[in-house]
Amino acid sequence: MNLNKLFKVFAVVLVLSMMLAACKTAPVATEAPVVATEAPVATEAPAATEAALVTSSGYVLPAAACAPNCTYNDMVVGFIQTGPEGAWRTANNASFDEAATQLGITLKVYDSQGKVENQISAFQTFIQDPTVNVIILAAVDTKGFDDVLKEAMDNGKIVILEDRSLDSSASLYYTRVGSDFVLEGQKAGTEMCKLLEGMDTKNVLEISGAVGASAGIDRGTGFRQTMEECGITVTATQTGDWKVAPSKAVMEAWLKDPVLKDVQGVHAHNIEEALGAIQAIKEAGLVPGVDIKVVAYDTTKDTFAALISGELSVGVECNPLLGPQVYEIALKGLNGDTSIPSYIVSNESVFTSAQGATELQSILDGWKY
Ligand code: AHR
Repeated sequence: MNLNKLFKVFAVVLVLSMMLAACKTAPVATEAPVVATEAPVATEAPAATEAALVTSSGYVLPAAACAPNCTYNDMVVGFIQTGPEGAWRTANNASFDEAATQLGITLKVYDSQGKVENQISAFQTFIQDPTVNVIILAAVDTKGFDDVLKEAMDNGKIVILEDRSLDSSASLYYTRVGSDFVLEGQKAGTEMCKLLEGMDTKNVLEISGAVGASAGIDRGTGFRQTMEECGITVTATQTGDWKVAPSKAVMEAWLKDPVLKDVQGVHAHNIEEALGAIQAIKEAGLVPGVDIKVVAYDTTKDTFAALISGELSVGVECNPLLGPQVYEIALKGLNGDTSIPSYIVSNESVFTSAQGATELQSILDGWKY
């Protein structure tokens, strides 16, 4: 074989060996692994979601995990309370505390110190608490709760209003259990008309509740609806913040005013405000119940003592003992009961000094708060 042919054979052998070597080091492209899948098997369509539980007011009940066999032991309540206001609020707290203990309910109470921003914050805390399934609110104001009510619903928490009302739509909470404050005011107006009957002037001073609270707003509305039947004039109104001392100061100033001191009646939005007004009336040398007729709300033991002494003329009942009733309704909610109405009113009475000391004392002897 001449040199030219020999060179060509060597070159071919060299190229082939280089190709062979390259093949050994390059990863061998493999087909992507194929995951064996079974042929799709026809499965049942996912069960249709359970029909939403909606009440007559349009409130969508969250589906509790324990439904429809929830018991009080399953209930964990976040209770957003107003904060200290007087004997009525103390009795209201006691009602929820005692009933929770008796029923085996886990109760987490938040004291809002009278501030709506604290109540919003408490809502958010209870919404984020995975153990809480019921939130109960005693509102310090009627406004500002829509967003947290929606958030509570979206996070499966049943919300019940106890005592006070809100401006919010009834579709945002399960129900409200509490007084008809407008009716209470109407009762007070009717009683004031009786007390001032036959007087030449019928000037009434009003010591109103804490600003923003539905109890005071509605009592004022109701009072004005019935006082007009007998020619009463409300000559001044100012908040006493549900408390004795500020109410006494307000009344003291009015009794020093040359115009306002011509007064025949006082409309106080709770018993502590009435007691403050009574102190000021006495310190001005006047006789409460004789010179000036005082009408108030809340029938605590202090109310009956003031009625028996004659210093208070009328006490319009506002029932604070709502715990058992609210818990019973909350349990119905956990178990999906959509028949509950959006408002459940407290049945209440009126007590007057005219009933006499003997009858009032016998009522007081059996009174719970
Ligand atoms: O909402 C009820 C009212 O709130 C009571 O009449 C008053 O005493 C309390 O502070």
